[in-house]
Amino acid sequence: MIHGVVGAAHMRDWEVVGFKDGFEGLLPPGDFKMLTRTNCNGIVKLGGTILGTTNKGNFAAKVGTDDVKKIAQDIVEKTKQTLKRLEIEGLIVVGGDGSLTTANFLADQGIPLVGVPKTIDNDLDATVTTFGFDSAISTVVDALDRLHTTASSHKRIMVVEVMGRNAGWIALYGGLAGDADVILLPEIPFNFGHVADFINRRDARGDHSSIVVVAEGTKLPNGNQVIQGEGTTEKQQRFGGIGDIVAEKLSELTGKETRACRLGHLQRGGSPTALDRILGTRFGVHAVQLIEQERYGRMVSYASYRVDSVPIKDAIGGLKLVDPGGEVVDTAKRVGIHFGDEAVV
Ligand code: F6P
Repeated sequence: MIHGVVGAAHMRDWEVVGFKDGFEGLLPPGDFKMLTRTNCNGIVKLGGTILGTTNKGNFAAKVGTDDVKKIAQDIVEKTKQTLKRLEIEGLIVVGGDGSLTTANFLADQGIPLVGVPKTIDNDLDATVTTFGFDSAISTVVDALDRLHTTASSHKRIMVVEVMGRNAGWIALYGGLAGDADVILLPEIPFNFGHVADFINRRDARGDHSSIVVVAEGTKLPNGNQVIQGEGTTEKQQRFGGIGDIVAEKLSELTGKETRACRLGHLQRGGSPTALDRILGTRFGVHAVQLIEQERYGRMVSYASYRVDSVPIKDAIGGLKLVDPGGEVVDTAKRVGIHFGDEAVV
């Protein structure tokens, strides 16, 4: 993304400043570095961000008494001071639901900014996809390709827990591409008995190994999600551990040897895929175009194979979740993948 911004800005003879550690770098005196073609050489192949990031701190939007998510007024004023002092004409905010909620508030306070969606979870409304998602599912697919080996040679059930918070996109796409047998998602309530029956039936017909992909935010049959870090806000709570629970229960119900594997932050690291490099570059170039046209308060979006933009407010507040009756889940069911929601007949 930065590669796209720096390239497009320098074609216009604009200077680019990168603020460090997310919004925190905007606080006076401003923690930033100049981004030039030279010091951004080669960054297209890097994951993460060369600027650092944080999802906590002074800019985490809090819900006010009027139900509007707000940033303290002195923080807004300090941000304006930094932007004025550095003669910044347009700010580009890159992130998921939380960062874009903050961006929307700052835009309403008169700060000239545009948003760019970025989350591996792919759960942002108003854009079909975000860069990072394809790289994350490629990691899942690579892991499943490897895990099939042990599963089949040892005739085991391998339970693979993947990220995604409350959305099942990584599990669904990773599981479909990685030839999973069972996929468990936050959007589809599942029953342990159905999953065990499905695995037993596979066993009976000679398929002695099964790969179960479970999204970290999947609800257990009692409706609970498995949380490991007790943060103060919903966003700060960390999911993790459902894979172990699913593995233990399936081992008990099927009598099969079962192992769990949590992919964790491997899904967020390493080199981005070609598709993500291209999407990030396109998003960066489009963000620069929005600034040139002074179309502030908008977020770059992707729909029908085109990069476009929407008001930031259209992308926040609600999550884009997997449709249990949608075409991708239907496709998976039609190739025999089980979602734990139906009795095996
Ligand atoms: O939102 C992206 C994400 O990777 C989620 O899929 C995951 O639950 C979370 O971030 C992990 O956050 P942290 O790096 O703070 O543990």
